[in-house]
Amino acid sequence: MTSPIILVVNGPNLNMLGSRQPEVYGRDTLADIETAVRGHAAALGFDIEFRQSNHEGELVTWIQGARGRCAGIVINAGAYTHTSVAILDALLAAEVPAVEVHLSNLHQREEFRRHSYIAKAAKGMICGLGSHGYLLAIDALARLTREARKP
Ligand code: DQA
Repeated sequence: MTSPIILVVNGPNLNMLGSRQPEVYGRDTLADIETAVRGHAAALGFDIEFRQSNHEGELVTWIQGARGRCAGIVINAGAYTHTSVAILDALLAAEVPAVEVHLSNLHQREEFRRHSYIAKAAKGMICGLGSHGYLLAIDALARLTREARKP
C-alpha cells in the first residue's frame, strides 16, 4: 500500500537558506531541512513531496495539484505570506489541511511581517522555532489526518 503524501511547499529565497541571514534563519540549508523532513515523515508513515520556487504561480500550481491527492500541506510561502491572495485562494480551493511554517519569529520582526494571508487557510502556524518547525508541522498533520480518519 502506498503511504499518504504530504506536500511541503517553500517560497522565494528559501533556496538561499544556510547562507541567507543565518542570524535570522539559521544555518540549515533547504536540503538539510528536506532530509530531516523526509526521515521524520517516513517514521510516521508519510511520503513527502518537497518543493521550492521563487515564482508565485508555480507555488499556486503545486498547491492546486494537492487537491484530492495529498493528505496535507506544509507551507512556508516566504515573503508571499505577506502579499499573496493567490496562494490563499489556492489553499482554500485545495481543501487539504495545511500548516504554515516560518523559521523566524514574525512577531519579533518588522510590522509588515505580522500579517499573513496564508493564515486564514491554515489549520495553524508555527513560527520562530527554526527548521524544527517543519518537523512539528509534520507531527501536527499526522495527528490531524489521523483524527479525520476516525469513524
Ligand atoms: C519567512 C519569513 C518571511 O517574512 C520572509 O519573507 C521569508 C522567510 C520565515 O521562514 O521566517 O522569506 O517565511
